[in-house]
Amino acid sequence: MLGHLPQFKAGPKHQVLEHWVAECGDLFRIHFAGKPFVVSADPQINGEILRQRPAAFQRYAKISEILEEMGILGVFNAEGEQWKRLRKPTAEALNLRKTKAFYPIIGRKAQQLIERWNDYASHDQTIDVTKEIMRFTIDVTTAVAFGYPLDTLGGQDDVFQQHLELIFPMVNQRMSAAIPWWRWIKTGKDKKLDEALKAIQALIHTFIEEARDRLEQQPERKEHPANFLEALLVEQKQEGFSEQEIYSTIFTLLLAGEDTTANSISWAIYFLARHPEIVEKVRAEALAVYSHQNVPDSTGQLDQLEYALAVAQETIRLKPTSPQLIMQATEDIQVGPLFLPKGTNIFLQNKVAQTREAHFSDADQFVPDRWLKGGCPAHYNHSSELIRAFGGGPRFCPGKHLATYEMVTVISALCYHFGFSLEGNPEKVKEGFAFTMHPEGLMVRIDIKKR
Ligand code: HEM
Repeated sequence: MLGHLPQFKAGPKHQVLEHWVAECGDLFRIHFAGKPFVVSADPQINGEILRQRPAAFQRYAKISEILEEMGILGVFNAEGEQWKRLRKPTAEALNLRKTKAFYPIIGRKAQQLIERWNDYASHDQTIDVTKEIMRFTIDVTTAVAFGYPLDTLGGQDDVFQQHLELIFPMVNQRMSAAIPWWRWIKTGKDKKLDEALKAIQALIHTFIEEARDRLEQQPERKEHPANFLEALLVEQKQEGFSEQEIYSTIFTLLLAGEDTTANSISWAIYFLARHPEIVEKVRAEALAVYSHQNVPDSTGQLDQLEYALAVAQETIRLKPTSPQLIMQATEDIQVGPLFLPKGTNIFLQNKVAQTREAHFSDADQFVPDRWLKGGCPAHYNHSSELIRAFGGGPRFCPGKHLATYEMVTVISALCYHFGFSLEGNPEKVKEGFAFTMHPEGLMVRIDIKKR
């Protein structure tokens, strides 16, 4: 009766599906408690589906249902006209020009991270990498998007991070539940989630109230809003954004910006710890570009860090934090050889093509050089157009520029200051999946590099 659900839930979900792709090929059908799903690892089909949004496909409706139950209906889970209205200010606020203007915040926070890690190194402490980097991404996202000086890197506001950490694992768990038991019986975890949501709600309302006060007291800000939230509030009347939409879009940005970027940087550190020769190359580049500073001081310098960027690109090729996306057909539609009746749910296994020999030579090896201008002659297969780490089509990730700046800054600055070694053997680090894919069990030791 449960179909493939028990096997699906037996391991990290993306890996179970990837094993099935290896067994059954790029296209097949499964069912969960009678509900059919198509699985596609075909990059052409997947690209086409992503492109045909919002008209012919939307996100899997259950994602939205679960998020809505948590009080969130923002740009990630809205559909149709509502999505279009919310997407516009989000994409504008995170465009390349605005992201460049935010760089001083990223630089300051990277500096704070270096100081924190210096302290760990001098006390010979092991570092829980993902938790640490999340402090950085939370502080950056809240400052950039809401102009709010949260200081989790300074050891303040830790509670907020703990609350945020609960959300994705619970969304993930609820998405594959055959019965929504939490609507009738609340377990300890469900109660904790409710408390976390309440606390986050209170904080977001503080962001909103403070931004409103600033706009009231300094009306000139309305002409040049200093951050995303201010811009959203200025447009509220004209665009007809409800209070709920503003709250949800702020919450969405926090969720979307924090976990994904922190996991990607953490995966980079996992690879760097395994490849000291690559750390040296990133370090040599940092010395050439900003030897008299601790971190890059401008986007001009950042743009010169081509090797650090290549490390970031190679990391998200091998370890995309969204190895799969789930879509739903909103009409009967033919995509290549595939006829999908309205309502069909489809898993897009995008990581498969990113890690296939046919598309990338030495596909399972960490080779940043393949991303350098002119490529690497030994790595002739290089289908960069198949990288879907940031999704694709009209709903691709609007935070790509911000995330890339964060990644390049932190990768470069950490390699400049430290060497890394994994605590335990590399096999201990697993691909954990809780809505996003993270390096489970990643603990590192660092040593300070002489300058
Ligand atoms: C390395 C870091 C990141 C990765 C790997 C990532 C990945 C993704 C992916 C795969 C999607 C789904 C795209 C699709 O459906 O085609 C997405 C959507 C989104 N991301 Fe990111 N993201 C990252 C960082 C960020 C940041 C820093 C922000 C903003 C602060 C952000 C905001 C969003 C939003 C708002 C959406 C929903 C877009 C929509 O539905 O229109 N992301 N991201």
